[in-house]
Amino acid sequence: MAKIIDGKAVSASVRAELKTECEKFYLENGYKPGLAVIIVGDDPASKVYVNNKEKGCAEVGYHSEVYRLPAETTEAELLSLVDKLNKDDKIHGILCQLPLPKHLDETKVILAIDPKKDVDAFHPENVGKIMIGNYSFLPCTPAGVMELISSTGVDITGKECVVVGRSNIVGKPQAMLLLQKNGTVTICHSRTKNLAEVTRRADILVVAIGKADFITGDMVKEGAVVIDVGMNRRADGKLTGDVDFASCEPKASFITPVPGGVGPMTITMLLKNTLTAAKASAESK
Ligand code: GUN
Repeated sequence: MAKIIDGKAVSASVRAELKTECEKFYLENGYKPGLAVIIVGDDPASKVYVNNKEKGCAEVGYHSEVYRLPAETTEAELLSLVDKLNKDDKIHGILCQLPLPKHLDETKVILAIDPKKDVDAFHPENVGKIMIGNYSFLPCTPAGVMELISSTGVDITGKECVVVGRSNIVGKPQAMLLLQKNGTVTICHSRTKNLAEVTRRADILVVAIGKADFITGDMVKEGAVVIDVGMNRRADGKLTGDVDFASCEPKASFITPVPGGVGPMTITMLLKNTLTAAKASAESK
């Protein structure tokens, strides 16, 4: 029987700390940390994420601005908004919700965001800093996973850590963060041979492959910490992760549920990055 890692509870405790820090920041500086979120078009999932980011800012007391742009927005218009926000002293973090409509080049937009305001940590300058361990921001989802692992009290040093998935947003940075904590890290992906053999070695298994219930109990080592980054919708409309909870839970020592595991942490880490950006900006004045 695994202990369930309660992402909502961990997230609530980090947000309470951020709220206190935000009040302190305001008293010291006379303004609030500010986050600007841009959404282009009307992808339903993206709209929900953006609304939750706005609510998160309100909860911890930040200044927030949301730019809801029509799907026909041109690249020049979007880049001009990013440029304006880069120069805006009230804004310390900028996030452009992905995916963008097909006619907009995501890479160009990411490159246009001032790395000091890149609270997603998607800009190559920030990605490079993560690689060398000298970072200002951590990408939100992998940072949330690290907080959840830390909440279990399990020490990563020397552990076999297996990351399933190699995306730029989760898998690759996740592997770097586990490596920095002295894990022995393996990254698996869709072309990995004998995947189950590799995942069965994992003391800490982080799954971000985007396939519903993909990891089953026979792929998990007895006593493993299992972190499920997946968020998939089943045919019956229910949310499920990349881990088959029913068969993995009896073998794991700790496991995250979906929903209520990694999901609640992501926006909290975005809020943390925004405070970090605001503090760095205040210190540089
Ligand atoms: N779309 C899905 N996840 C994310 C994220 O972490 N950041 C941005 N900007 N867009 C996303």
